[in-house]
Amino acid sequence: MSVFRHIGKSILLKHNQSALTLQASFFHKSHSVKSKNDYLIDTPEYDFLKDIGIERENFGVYNGSWQGSGEVITSIDPGTGRKIANIRMGSVQEMDEAIQIGVKAYEQWSQVPAPVRGDVIRQIGEEMRKYKEPLGKLVSLEVGKIHSEGQGEVQEFIDICDYAAGLSRIYSGQVINSERPEHIILEAWRPLGLVGVISAYNFPNAVFGWNAAIALTTGNSVLWKGAPTTSLVSVATMKILAEVLNRNNLPPIATLCQGGANVGQQLVSDARVKLVSFTGSCATGRNVGVEVQKRFGKVILELGGNNALIVDQDANFQMVLEAALFGCIGTSGQRCTTTRRIIVHEKLYDRLVKELVAKYKQVLPKVGHQLDPNTLVGPVHSQQNIEHYKAAIAEAVKLGGKIAFGGKVIQSDGFYTEPTIITDLPHDSPVVHRETFAPIVYVLKAKSIEQAIAWNNEVDQGLSSAIFTENISNAFKWIGPQGSDCGIVNINTTTNGAEIGGAFGGEKHTGGGRESGSDAWKQYCKRSTITLNHSGKLACAQGVVFNVE
Ligand code: UN1
Repeated sequence: MSVFRHIGKSILLKHNQSALTLQASFFHKSHSVKSKNDYLIDTPEYDFLKDIGIERENFGVYNGSWQGSGEVITSIDPGTGRKIANIRMGSVQEMDEAIQIGVKAYEQWSQVPAPVRGDVIRQIGEEMRKYKEPLGKLVSLEVGKIHSEGQGEVQEFIDICDYAAGLSRIYSGQVINSERPEHIILEAWRPLGLVGVISAYNFPNAVFGWNAAIALTTGNSVLWKGAPTTSLVSVATMKILAEVLNRNNLPPIATLCQGGANVGQQLVSDARVKLVSFTGSCATGRNVGVEVQKRFGKVILELGGNNALIVDQDANFQMVLEAALFGCIGTSGQRCTTTRRIIVHEKLYDRLVKELVAKYKQVLPKVGHQLDPNTLVGPVHSQQNIEHYKAAIAEAVKLGGKIAFGGKVIQSDGFYTEPTIITDLPHDSPVVHRETFAPIVYVLKAKSIEQAIAWNNEVDQGLSSAIFTENISNAFKWIGPQGSDCGIVNINTTTNGAEIGGAFGGEKHTGGGRESGSDAWKQYCKRSTITLNHSGKLACAQGVVFNVE
């Protein structure tokens, strides 16, 4: 079955000549391009959508059963601008009901032994394995990321389920020595209650997976609001979870309520939601953080990045080029971890710009529909990304930046941009300090490793960073207290594409939250400090005497 046959033609008709020639293979795959009123779900090539429960009309709310009484939105393929299917969003009232249902489900679930909970998560991982291909394809189709990246995203969900299943048997507190005779201090980690997850369009499956797998394993229930423009991924993902919950006769410990800002607001401000895990922009995250703090809820913020790749003078140059390519252009520049700045030692600057431009030239013909096997760079997600791309380039040029490669929107029915390299801007230009969710990288020339680290750290965001060096002193400087101030501090590998085993997140305006591996599970728990007296006599700590004879 090929899902690629109806795509590509319209993209190329208005494409520039060189790309058109190089992308000629698209035409061979294109036949019978249908009227734009058709829904992809109704064409046989997209039957895989039905394999994961997507229909022409879908409900966007799951709270034990499927419903939706809000507005109907149409999900769009960013690669062609064509409609995929419709989803009826949830209302504020449905969010309120989902909260109530989630709180009730928590009461039962929190009493299930942790390893039994872990087994349910294992089963969810198994189902994800089963549906990895079609679900990953839907991720690609709806977001705009290429096939292997869509598959890789579902793989992250699978990996975190494996991790959580193991975690369920080993996460634990500690025994602490008491200063009082025949006393013992215990530490236990208990669930919080209902956890709200708000995820972004760029990782519509995996980010929910990181949160849900760990939150559920530690005994919480989860209520999810995914990005409206990737509602089909939310629906398909939740259908897979719902099937496992039903099979295990469990209450709706995982629920979904798709919706707009007002529905999200309800989730954020409701005191019954004990933790809100939010992934999105710094601006929205700041408001979410304040709103949740106002009611003394807990919050995990996973916000923007402005990730630098530092190239030391002795770096393995071939590796740098490959890392820059995936870092800057992978996922069309729409990962929080995308490389947005390359800070290169002055000795290597000219060579790097020249050879990177040569690589980008090789990539340009591989810009195309996200599901075409020849594509390396898919579209950006929406017109909004296009606008931000154009605004950033215009501003960069106005500020004295030179476009070493790219810089143009590719005219088509989809949302395509040329991967872009900009040089000659001051390291502290406003546009360099801003995160633009598009494939644009700024190359900056630094005199020393100290200067490069200072520039790495001078931006507001603090998510990911990488240095390429063979110099052990510089490597240790980089990971030391005066080194990178980011949450992710890599050496000789990319800024993007973190594994689930480590804690994922960043400092400063990135929000400070950590998700996924390591001990990030603690954020989904409350800590009970338990002092236990087995002496038969009451004794106050610190030698305090307080009694009446
Ligand atoms: C995100 O962009 O919000 O490290 C998440 C990475 C992926 C996750 C990105 N594992 O790039």
